[in-house]
Formats: sequence, structure tokens, C-alpha cells
Amino acid sequence: MPLVGTKKMFQMAYKNGYAIGAFNVNNMEITQGIVEAVAEEQAPLILQISKGAREYAKMSYLRGIIDVAVKENPGIPIVIHLDHGDTFELCKQCVDDGYTSVMVDASHEPYEDNIKLTRKVVEYAHSKGVVVEAELGQLGGIEEHVKGVDDVAAHLTDPNQAVDFIKRSGCDSLALAIGTSHGAYKFKAAPMLAFDVIEKIHKLMPGFPLVMHGSSSVLQEFKDLINKYGGKMPDAMGVPEEAITKASKMGVCKVNIDTDLRMALTAKIRQVFAEKPGEFDPRKYLGPGREAIKKMVKHKLHVLGCAGKAAECL
Ligand code: G3H
Ligand code: 13P
Ligand code: ZN
Repeated sequence: MPLVGTKKMFQMAYKNGYAIGAFNVNNMEITQGIVEAVAEEQAPLILQISKGAREYAKMSYLRGIIDVAVKENPGIPIVIHLDHGDTFELCKQCVDDGYTSVMVDASHEPYEDNIKLTRKVVEYAHSKGVVVEAELGQLGGIEEHVKGVDDVAAHLTDPNQAVDFIKRSGCDSLALAIGTSHGAYKFKAAPMLAFDVIEKIHKLMPGFPLVMHGSSSVLQEFKDLINKYGGKMPDAMGVPEEAITKASKMGVCKVNIDTDLRMALTAKIRQVFAEKPGEFDPRKYLGPGREAIKKMVKHKLHVLGCAGKAAECL
């Protein structure tokens, strides 16, 4: 029964000093690329679905694709997770749809309101056996449905407040703001991450699973291909992979990656179009895109340290 919640995964990840990759899915090729990678590397997996992904692909289609992945890979524990749920209704809908984990993100609300909404989602989700991730502090960057703050350094998670938040909200894991942003433009000059925030919460709440959002690395290979073949992302900058590995040994059990998937797919499609301007068979450009995602995810699983850990998380 490999469709699972995050409890066992996070216990093992915490104890053994690695993190689980949480990859955003929006269509079949992205999902297949990720799933083929974890199957080859025997890694546990969190597939996460944003509100935008639900609207774009229609949940029933995404669910169908994921159900096939689960059925074909009985040795891989797979979590279906809601990414950045912004209302009680959406979180409830996802619990009712059979997600095994939901994130309620009320981090932009005043502190007491964040606790109140998180608590409400926790009460419903727990009554159905579903785990809840919450967020305290705010990230930067902009995605379709996730608007961040401009000044990330002023919105970092407060470690003492995090202890109070976890106790009063009852959440199962907490997403921290440590200076990352969503998207491909995370830092203006050089990466700056508040490891002291992770360290303090790690000490104050031993055993409690932490989550890092905005954790794509903006890989040079894909940035170069995009810029070479007609794209324009010259100043894109991500989180260094060494920082991800370091965090995975400090209680960070879940690392969110979307931008690196988008860039891998986009880079390969651009390359095919540039090299074969007459190409119009979607399989001929989506196929290489899927292959690039697979290769990139396989590499990430080693950065996260979760390659080979599927069996212990079952
Ligand atoms: O955290 C944001 C994810 O990258 C999802 O982005 O809302 O554009 O699907 P999205
Ligand atoms: P990236 O934009 O860095 O991939 O972050 C994704 C994310 O945090 C999804 O919740
Ligand atoms: Zn996020």
C-alpha cells in the first residue's frame, strides 16, 4: 500500500539525516519523469499539487496519472500533497479527494489568524487521518497563486514564535522562511540563507519535521540552454545544493522543488525547437523534456540523501 502520509517518511528522514523531495506536478510528462527517477533510485516521494495545478490539469486527470504511478511502483512510498492551500474549503476538498497530506498556508495572515485557520484544518484533516503542513514567516517571489513579500529578510520565521505556533496549531510539520523565494530569481547578488533560524528551531523542537520551500537550485545547465536557445533568464539564481544537503541534516525533512522541473522541461523544448524548427510532433519535444526531468530528479535525490531509502519509509 504505497500511497502513504508523511509520518514514517519524516521519522526516518529526521533520524537518518536526509530529506524527501517534494516535486510539483502539473501534467503527465512531469509526473512520469519524476516517478521514473524515484523508481530507478528507490527513493520515497512526495508529489505535490498546487491550486493552479488543480485548475490547469483538472484534479481527476492528475489523480488518474498518480494512481497509475502508485500501482506500477509498489515498492515506492508516495504521498499526494496539497501545496499552499489558502482556504479551509480547499484543504477540506483535498482531504476528501484522498490526498494523504495537505499544506495550509496562512502565513500572510496576522499570527493569531494563521493559528486559527491552521488549527481548523488540522482538526478536520486529523479526523480523516491526513497530516498537515503549515507555514510561519513569509517567502519572496511570485508564482501563479503564491505571492511573496519583497523583503524576505524582514519576514523570516521567529524561532520562539514557531514553538508556540506548533503547539497551538497542532500542525505535523512547519515550513520555514529562511530567506528563500519561489521562482527562478531568489537572490540579487549572492545566496543568503538564515541557517541560524533552522538551527534554533531544530534545538527548541527536537524531532519535529521542518520544511523548506523555494528550494530549487536553478541549475546552470538549464539556465544556459534556455539563454542559448532564445530564452531570457540571465539573472536567475537558486539555492546552492550544498545548502540543501546541509539543511537535510538539521531537521529539514521536506524540500520543495518546482522551478528546476520547469526549467528542465523548458530548456529541452527550446533546444528541440531551435535545432529542428520544423518539428511539430509534441512527443518529439515533450519526450526529451521528460527525460531531462528524470535525469535532474535522479541527481536531486542524491543531493537530498533520500536515494535508496524507499524501503525504510514504507
Ligand atoms: O509554491 C509554488 C509552486 O511553485 C506552485 O506554483 O501556483 O504556479 O502552480 P503554481
Ligand atoms: P521553487 O520555486 O524554488 O521550485 O519552490 C517551489 C515551492 O516551494 C513549491 O511550494
Ligand atoms: Zn512553496
